[in-house]
Amino acid sequence: MKRPKTFIFSILITILLSGFSFSQAQETPTDYLKPEFHKNRREALRAKLPENSVAVFFANPVRNRANDVDFVYHQDPDLFYLTGYKEPHAVLLVFKDEQTNPDGTRYNEIFFVQERNARAEMWTGRRLGDKGVQEKLGILNSFNNSAFKAYDIDFGKFDKILFYDFKNDVRDTGSPSDLFDLISQFKTKVGYGTDNTSLSTELPKNNLNIRELNSIMASLRGIKTPEELELLRKAVFISTVGQVEVMKAMKPGLSETEIQGIHEFVFKKYGSEYEGYPSIVGAGHNGCILHYIDNHKPHIESTEMVLMDLGAEYHGYTADVTRTIPVDGKFSPEEKAIYDLVYKAQEEAIQMIKPGVTFQQLGAHAKKVINEGLAELGIINTKDERHLYFPHGLSHHIGLDVHDKGSRGALEENMVITIEPGIYIPANSKCNPKWWNIAVRIEDDILVTKDGFENLSYYAPRTTEAIEKMMRQKSPLDKFDLPALKKGQE
Ligand code: GLY
Ligand code: MN
Ligand code: MN
Repeated sequence: MKRPKTFIFSILITILLSGFSFSQAQETPTDYLKPEFHKNRREALRAKLPENSVAVFFANPVRNRANDVDFVYHQDPDLFYLTGYKEPHAVLLVFKDEQTNPDGTRYNEIFFVQERNARAEMWTGRRLGDKGVQEKLGILNSFNNSAFKAYDIDFGKFDKILFYDFKNDVRDTGSPSDLFDLISQFKTKVGYGTDNTSLSTELPKNNLNIRELNSIMASLRGIKTPEELELLRKAVFISTVGQVEVMKAMKPGLSETEIQGIHEFVFKKYGSEYEGYPSIVGAGHNGCILHYIDNHKPHIESTEMVLMDLGAEYHGYTADVTRTIPVDGKFSPEEKAIYDLVYKAQEEAIQMIKPGVTFQQLGAHAKKVINEGLAELGIINTKDERHLYFPHGLSHHIGLDVHDKGSRGALEENMVITIEPGIYIPANSKCNPKWWNIAVRIEDDILVTKDGFENLSYYAPRTTEAIEKMMRQKSPLDKFDLPALKKGQE
């Protein structure tokens, strides 16, 4: 029987509207930064480069974990920001002015990337290669890295060649165009010298400049674009969901590792690829170690607090959120006194945030609050000893790095910074022993807006009352009963 035309037409429309979902399953997230974003960032960099200069960025090295196992690869954040490229063994050159090839073609950037290799890709995953970079990342002037050596660029003509000095921690893989070779070929091309001396220990050579690039990149990366804010918001929200779920699930007897696992499960559940930095979960006195990452206490105790500083990394952007909570769901009077003081310092600093206020002003205010509070509680004798118990800074930028690049002067709209005061009182400190082993840090991620601020980490309760209330909520993990290990399995 012949189908009427309208019927065929309606089938076609249905297929079109369904996005061909039956023929093409979605393989990757759809919210990665787009080529347009990276292109705009290269344009913004070019606008800030000094006259007659070129900026050169190398991919991060692959780092070996042990034997034939490497650490998970992480791209250099500047290179990722400018290209979206996530593979090793690459070098990007961004020129201030248009360059001309011998054949008359013109370009203002050039990217050398690792070659495709079917055998290697079978073991370690797909590569883009030069064609893939052109098609998927939209960087048209891209070549395989084997072309770098012979590529004719007259570096002598530039007033400045801007790059980061080398750390001498790059292995030679034996391939003729790996990062090791790209660096040594670059050194030859620009007259760096082939010895292992770092330029930072010498006077600048010729037109080589290892000092200016960092502040240029900081001025770009410190101010987030709408696309970056979308990813950062998501990273921060995911991290606060982790904090909330742990508040509900917390009970004596959990291990620090298990608590870390709950946070990181939540990160993965929402599509975060990694932790932005090693997770910190410190019960009791372990909280006094600022960057405690052993997380190996097997059974946390009901009388302890747990300090949890963790950040989900979502499509490259990392949150940095800390909450400190009592294992039994109730702050003791001493814990509450210290907690409330840290909270006061944090809240007052957050309320000061707006464009024009300086990092220094925020830090000075938090220090003053903590100095006065510790003196009132009798924990310090004079009002300038807070550094004994609050020994770190108050604030830093977050973004592609947890301690992100950005200006440390006055705040500007669309900066995202942490506010993270803390008080840590190790055992045997010179104060009443009732304060010993209390450690509190509260850390929030704050967006600087046109005339104030927005707390991106609002979702994780922050006052003692709100935390205690959240900890009374049921947890989905209450029902997550795994078999106990039997003898021989332990
Ligand atoms: N998580 C590291 C920091 O708070 O700076
Ligand atoms: Mn921080
Ligand atoms: Mn932190």
